Amino acid sequence: MLIKNCRILVDGEEKVQDILTADGKIIEIADNIPQGHIEMLDAEGKWVIPGVVDAHCHMRDPGLTQKEDFMTGSMACARGGVTTFIDMPNTIPAVTTAKIFEDKRDMMIGKSYVDYGFNFGGSKNDNSQEIKKVIDKVASTKIFLNMSTGDMLITEDEVIENIFKESKIISVHAEEEMVAKAIELCEKYDKPLYLCHLSKASEAKMLREAKAKGLKVFGEVTPHHLFLNVDDVNANEENHMLLRMKPELKTKEDNEALWEALADGTIDTIGTDHAPHLKEEKLAKLTFGIPGVENSLEMMLKGVDEGKISMARLIEVMCTKPAEIFKIENKGKIAVGYDADLVIIDRDDKSPIKDDDVISKASWTPYEKFNRGGRVVTTILRGQIIYLNKEFYGRYGREIKYYE
Ligand code: DOR
Ligand code: ZN
Ligand code: ZN
Repeated sequence: MLIKNCRILVDGEEKVQDILTADGKIIEIADNIPQGHIEMLDAEGKWVIPGVVDAHCHMRDPGLTQKEDFMTGSMACARGGVTTFIDMPNTIPAVTTAKIFEDKRDMMIGKSYVDYGFNFGGSKNDNSQEIKKVIDKVASTKIFLNMSTGDMLITEDEVIENIFKESKIISVHAEEEMVAKAIELCEKYDKPLYLCHLSKASEAKMLREAKAKGLKVFGEVTPHHLFLNVDDVNANEENHMLLRMKPELKTKEDNEALWEALADGTIDTIGTDHAPHLKEEKLAKLTFGIPGVENSLEMMLKGVDEGKISMARLIEVMCTKPAEIFKIENKGKIAVGYDADLVIIDRDDKSPIKDDDVISKASWTPYEKFNRGGRVVTTILRGQIIYLNKEFYGRYGREIKYYE
């Protein structure tokens, strides 16, 4: 496919160029590429960025598919400009054995509109020997050091340490003092550590210090921990039930510290922690988790509008860095040889974000009060249109590969 007139960043410089793809890859980026006989799409000078790589999604499949499944979750991704997601293991059954993992892989073939990978789950029963069997096929081992949805909390030090020893990279749900503990283990076992959803100024500070020491620690922040805080939770009774997740929303000062840490390079990625629950479920009983993939890019563009981060930094933290940290092959960049995963954005569309438009089975968005900073108009996966003008095409999604 030939995509004409794409506003892109080339070595930090904004340019309008054409992108030519073949066999799912980008093969040329240049001015005025002749059309020849191939399919053409005109981006009309709109921004085109690499497909977003979201390293933190709970697609609920199998076992909790009333909340989401791989098909609906991946449609929400396509709608939001996410072309690769990594799924979390707290499904039913939880992904804590090689057998369960292989079964899940088989089950998901042909279900997704976008590309995907899996995290393996660390278990309190010490499944570190299982990790060896799957290590080349998973993004990381995910461990929960604090209580959250599912039954995956690990409290025994010996088990946690065995899991660190056997993993290639550890993603961790850790809050406050558990962040400090995870960083200590990262140092002790010399394993890369990915701190999921940092939510506090103090946690960003720990990450900054760990990086200054030269440790291989990476940090993620969610759009909700940047844009929402306790004042939103307390705004009304409904919000008091809806805007609840682990880690919980913090203060306005924390929002600001997290934006700063994102802009200055301390925090490495945006991950949504897409954790859909139905509105009825949320309102009936305190349930932690909120949907994310559909509005993450549109909200982060709002951050660009507000001068909180640059477009170049947005691309880094949403596309390039997550692919690099998890060593995902050919993702995260608009460059020759990379997968032609592209998102066309209408930056002039600042319309309100609405529950009514939501694709996810969750059927609600935590960002109703906001106007988008731009709209995803077209999403392309490996050179094929999967989302255009509110229509979905394909289900070409397949499992990602990891290098090294
Ligand atoms: O709020 C959350 N919900 N935090 C998590 O860590 C898990 C997630 C879920 O799966 O619902
Ligand atoms: Zn978590
Ligand atoms: Zn999560």
